[in-house]
Amino acid sequence: MRHILNFKKQGVELPTFAESYVQTLLFNLQAHDGNTQAHCVRVSEMALSLAQAMNLNLMEQAICLYAGLLHDVGKMKIAEKILNKPDKLTQEEYDLVKKHTEFGVELIGPLTVLPFFRKVSDAILYHHERIDGKGYFNLPEEDIPLASKIILIVDTVDAITEDRPYRKGRSFEVACDELVRCSGTQFDEQIVDCFLDVFGRRRVEKTNKAA
Ligand SMILES: [Fe+2]
Repeated sequence: MRHILNFKKQGVELPTFAESYVQTLLFNLQAHDGNTQAHCVRVSEMALSLAQAMNLNLMEQAICLYAGLLHDVGKMKIAEKILNKPDKLTQEEYDLVKKHTEFGVELIGPLTVLPFFRKVSDAILYHHERIDGKGYFNLPEEDIPLASKIILIVDTVDAITEDRPYRKGRSFEVACDELVRCSGTQFDEQIVDCFLDVFGRRRVEKTNKAA
């Protein structure tokens, strides 16, 4: 995988078994639901760019990269017809979908012999926590891993802008408006500001040029 190899060159090297395990998980996720796998790859790339823009150290950048790649891997344990259901989910289905964070942690269990993947595991488990404490686990802001806060933001942007089987993706500007609207409740304000600096203004300038 291109960005994992690039990362190795920057000095963060993981044992071969870990890389193979991650690749196998992503391969299996693609076989189960290609949309989710493609989403994970995009989220990991955006999370890494944001982590770099925030001047996080290489280890923290790598956590963002791998947690991004694997954040929704637990959806492999949920039927594809529920993941791509065009109609509103039943309460039972919704409760099951919410379990994907825990399923993800189970799936990467063998990797957590490495301290690095214990951090990735926490970032995956808590990637739906909100800074107002109203997330899946009602975790208080100070206990939410930084990588989880970053992933929540890029995950939201990708979810809004990507096409789903049941609806067309909305514009990047709509996604940025949502970040601003929920900044300070759902999202960390400083990370939102950084996201808008890194992606927002550049995209807006491009749009203006094209107009
Ligand atoms: Fe998720």
